[in-house]
Amino acid sequence: MTVTETQLQSRSQSQSQSLPANSRTWWKESSVYQIYPASFKDSNGDGIGDIPGIISQLDYIKALGVDVVWLSPILQSPQVDMGYDVSDYYQIHPPYGNLKDVDMLIQGLHARGMKYVMDLVVNHTSDQHEWFKQSRASKDNKFRDWYIWKKPRYTADGARQPPNNWGAYFGGSAWKYDEQTDEYFLHLFAPEQPDLNWENPQVRDAVHQIMRYWLDKGVSGFRMDVINFISKDQRFPDVPVVDPKNPYPEGAKYYACGPRIHEYLQDLGRILKEYDAFSVGEMPSVYDPAEILNAVGFDRQELGMAFQFEIMDIDHGPKGKFSPGKFCLKDLKSIVTKWQSFMYENNGWNALYLENHDQGRSISRFASAKPEYRALSGKMLATFLGLQSGTPFVYQGQEIGMVNMPESWDVQKFRDLEAINFWNEFTQINEENAELCNQTLKEIRLKSRDNGRIPIQWGPGKFAEFTSGTIDPWIGVNDDYDTWNASSQVSDPSSVFNYWASILRLRRTWVDVFVYGSFKLIDEEHDDLFVYSRSLGEMRAIVVSNFSDKHVEWTVASEVSSIFAGGKILIGNYEKRQITGVDDKSVVVKPFEAFVVLQNEPSISV
Ligand code: GLC
Ligand code: CA
Repeated sequence: MTVTETQLQSRSQSQSQSLPANSRTWWKESSVYQIYPASFKDSNGDGIGDIPGIISQLDYIKALGVDVVWLSPILQSPQVDMGYDVSDYYQIHPPYGNLKDVDMLIQGLHARGMKYVMDLVVNHTSDQHEWFKQSRASKDNKFRDWYIWKKPRYTADGARQPPNNWGAYFGGSAWKYDEQTDEYFLHLFAPEQPDLNWENPQVRDAVHQIMRYWLDKGVSGFRMDVINFISKDQRFPDVPVVDPKNPYPEGAKYYACGPRIHEYLQDLGRILKEYDAFSVGEMPSVYDPAEILNAVGFDRQELGMAFQFEIMDIDHGPKGKFSPGKFCLKDLKSIVTKWQSFMYENNGWNALYLENHDQGRSISRFASAKPEYRALSGKMLATFLGLQSGTPFVYQGQEIGMVNMPESWDVQKFRDLEAINFWNEFTQINEENAELCNQTLKEIRLKSRDNGRIPIQWGPGKFAEFTSGTIDPWIGVNDDYDTWNASSQVSDPSSVFNYWASILRLRRTWVDVFVYGSFKLIDEEHDDLFVYSRSLGEMRAIVVSNFSDKHVEWTVASEVSSIFAGGKILIGNYEKRQITGVDDKSVVVKPFEAFVVLQNEPSISV
């Protein structure tokens, strides 16, 4: 049976009327598309993506069916960390365009019923920001206290040491010595990214002004970069050293959701509320949902939702991101269930994501990039992620099943400072151990941030039609673009792109169950299948995803067998399943298969 758009609309309206009114909001019902501007679309042939390039693809984004578009930073920046080092919050990085282009982008989005969410990077600035230039100039400069300056420590034999032993995320100590004033400044990331001192009310005012300026200009909210790092324990204590090879361990317990975080976030929350704005805080290094709920609880009036990192860190090894770890489905089950249940029960909200500009591609990491499984994997992951409780984020390229960079690529092709710094340091320390170095290189290839940053494959032409020019793009284009590209997928109803579009449409059609329903994990012990249900009132849906390349015979769990018996398949990534349906006793789930069964509703074609 086919249902028309009008019928769908009236159905979703009648559902909404029965929803609990207290915590319904537009941003819970939205889905988000993330753009990494440098790699999206280059309109003027300089090899770097730009805002006019984005504007030229708004219909493509609309066709995917998202409601919100988040752009990674486009503000003026020396680009030490690809724009996450802002040198002027009121100017655009010239290769990306200018303020007029941003106005046009916002207009173009609004004309298509979409909203613009901006990346707000205010834990730190660039060292080229005027505030920092002033701050470092002298101890009595009025901007001195806008950053975090401390006196050196000295060992017994007089060697100068940083004020504490915290490590920076991009290598070495988190403190840099500045000769001019004989003090160190704090930088949790690169030395060119000094941390702002949020203890200073002028800093907070300056951030509030930035937010208001952009909200007034028409942005609909913010993704807030490492926002849970803004309040530091003012004692700045050392952290215990556990690995003698690493004298600068992560100091997160002294700044991740630090002492004054909620005071600061409540200030931001007041502004957000005034504008009914979208907000998602990036919150690494915190694994207790109760801690994050303090910021995203509906009644807290701080942020709408947060990116937690537990899934992203799942395959990190004992010595961090690039030490070998293993992805195992049971770990994923327990993490997902923990966050899904906790946020639902406590009126919080999840940001759902498997990819972004800091991560390896999800097909390569959590499923299979082999040609025979790649499309199935992309669709399976879309089903698994997109129908959970929370707001889904699709990262550019994820919608067309892009995968990690080819293994044959040389280290010279890496562009990201995190991987490059790590590799240089690691090979220096472990020079003699070729095997260990090789193993580490494998991990870098799997998880490095560059994987998500290679250009979008638009078509089969030169450079995947990412650029209109003839010069090499700033980062290599993946070799597989003649078969894996957007133009072939948009027109193919069975593509990963159109599957993603269907999943996002399902959320809108069955708002009750897929947006506001509860989550329950089914068959916790199963090694290959991830099965969950979503329920609200009488309505229940079961989402089945096979994370393995095997045919799996599954004895349908008794708690869902009635749904299997009476339900209808809403969507699936194997065509046949949609016709034959399932029975209530057992079902053979094919390699990387995913399908969704809905109880109490007729099937629709999506
Ligand atoms: C966030 C960004 C990342 C950046 C870092 C420092 O984690 O997503 O790209 O390097 O913050 O700003
Ligand atoms: Ca360009």
